[in-house]
Amino acid sequence: MKKVFKYKEPYSAFANIYNHVMGHVDYKKWAKFIYKTIEYQNPLNTLDIACGTGSLFQFYPSYLKKIGIDSSEDMIEVAKIEVIDSKFYVQNMKEITLNEKFDFVTCNHDSINYLLTEEELEQHFFSVKKVLKQESIYFFDISSEENILLNFDKKIFTDTIDHTFLLWENEYDKNKREIYSKLFFSINTDSGLLEYRESHQQKCYRINDIEKVLEKTGFKILAIGSDYNLWKQKKDSSLINFMVKLK
Ligand SMILES: C[S@@+](CC[C@H](N)C(=O)[O-])C[C@H]1O[C@@H](n2cnc3c(N)ncnc32)[C@H](O)[C@@H]1O
Repeated sequence: MKKVFKYKEPYSAFANIYNHVMGHVDYKKWAKFIYKTIEYQNPLNTLDIACGTGSLFQFYPSYLKKIGIDSSEDMIEVAKIEVIDSKFYVQNMKEITLNEKFDFVTCNHDSINYLLTEEELEQHFFSVKKVLKQESIYFFDISSEENILLNFDKKIFTDTIDHTFLLWENEYDKNKREIYSKLFFSINTDSGLLEYRESHQQKCYRINDIEKVLEKTGFKILAIGSDYNLWKQKKDSSLINFMVKLK
């Protein structure tokens, strides 16, 4: 059997099985948690940054104009197929180039952790400013260190989805506060076995780090919450929610 082995960009080989692997994520709860905070402003449009396969959009009111951006072409391809009432574009969250301002903006599921330095965080928040109205809210989350230590560090996950076998290894460097993930995909196709690898790297930020960059880039924090459950900080939360707006 012919064997092809190749390194791929993050979220390229992953894109085709991402929705299956994330089957446990309650996007409906996430969408409701966000939407009920903003509903009183009668929003008409929204932007989801690092939207992945666009899962969040399925749970918003249909009259809402929805735009998603992500740096992965493959994730955007899947989003376009899965979520037909929305628009999706390949864009980097550090340099968003949309000529529109949105009633609320989101960035979920530890996507911010893919920004590896404070400089990159600054670029991101400056970029978000350009697509926010004065009264708009920006909702985002970061992964907590507790989550990384408990659920990812030194953990190996395996899964088989249709013809694809996935092996996903994680290692956390506590000194650098960086998590490295290696994903291996083995795909059984008619023309042979295709094997791919992806390397992901994420930074684990403290709440203070984020507060500092928000202050510097002209945002104020309205609330910090836990796990899309409540707008209250909890010590053991996995995803730390932020609700911010322009100063
Ligand atoms: C864990 S996934 C989350 C996807 C989606 N928000 C969700 O909740 O399922 C992280 C996403 O961030 C995207 N991403 C990483 N770095 C990015 C960047 N610099 N600009 C835009 N998207 C980025 C990846 O392509 C991936 O789709």
